[in-house]
Amino acid sequence: MRRPIVAGNWKMNTTRSEAEELVLAIRTLAAAAPTEVVVCPPYVWLELVSRALEGSNMKTGAQDVYWEDSGAFTGQVAVTQLVGMCEYVIVGHSERRRLFGDTDEIVARKVAACMGAGLIPILAVGEDAGDHAEEVVRRQVTTALAGVTPHPLVAAYEPVWAIGTGDAAIPEYAQWVATVIRDELRIAGFDPQTVPVLYGGSVNPENFPGFVAQPDIDGGLVGGVSLDARKFATLVEQASTAAY
Ligand code: PGA
Repeated sequence: MRRPIVAGNWKMNTTRSEAEELVLAIRTLAAAAPTEVVVCPPYVWLELVSRALEGSNMKTGAQDVYWEDSGAFTGQVAVTQLVGMCEYVIVGHSERRRLFGDTDEIVARKVAACMGAGLIPILAVGEDAGDHAEEVVRRQVTTALAGVTPHPLVAAYEPVWAIGTGDAAIPEYAQWVATVIRDELRIAGFDPQTVPVLYGGSVNPENFPGFVAQPDIDGGLVGGVSLDARKFATLVEQASTAAY
């Protein structure tokens, strides 16, 4: 059975003291869970957060990465700089794609760089309103994994129209897209049954049980609610209960 994962993407939120307070509250409330808990703070708090989680079984993740190892790339952060600081990296988040020009090819370079450095990419894919979900998701997964050999990977289905809108997908629909993602993972040479597939987009404690009850959904990639330690811990609890 795949271990459930609940990953919190803090995005560009928290001051230093808020980050300290939040990570400690999450550690206190969610430490005992059998679920893999991943906290993804802004880069500037990554070291602080990973230190605060030392000795727990919780993990940290970066929200993005650049694919070169070093050099004249102002403002970028390399996988080599993240090694030892975090275990996961969110790659292909729709905000990166939409606001910062991350194309499918750029996402592929980032995935390959993470895998080469032993970091686990959380590959986010999903269609925008009006797009054909299956077509978009198949293309995004195929392109992202072209040229890589199987390495540890997490996939996240995040319909763009559901992110930050309060309008989550219907769990059965997300389940169907998760099977499409698994099919593309298989085509790309991965063992689809070993890759966790998460759902993301307006996840909250009211709707999350419906997602983790789906056989192909192994947890959540959470934005807004991850800034509320109590609610986030509730999601962790719900993922743990669904799986065991
Ligand atoms: P949301 O964000 O939970 O605030 O909708 C999800 C995400 O961007 O991963």
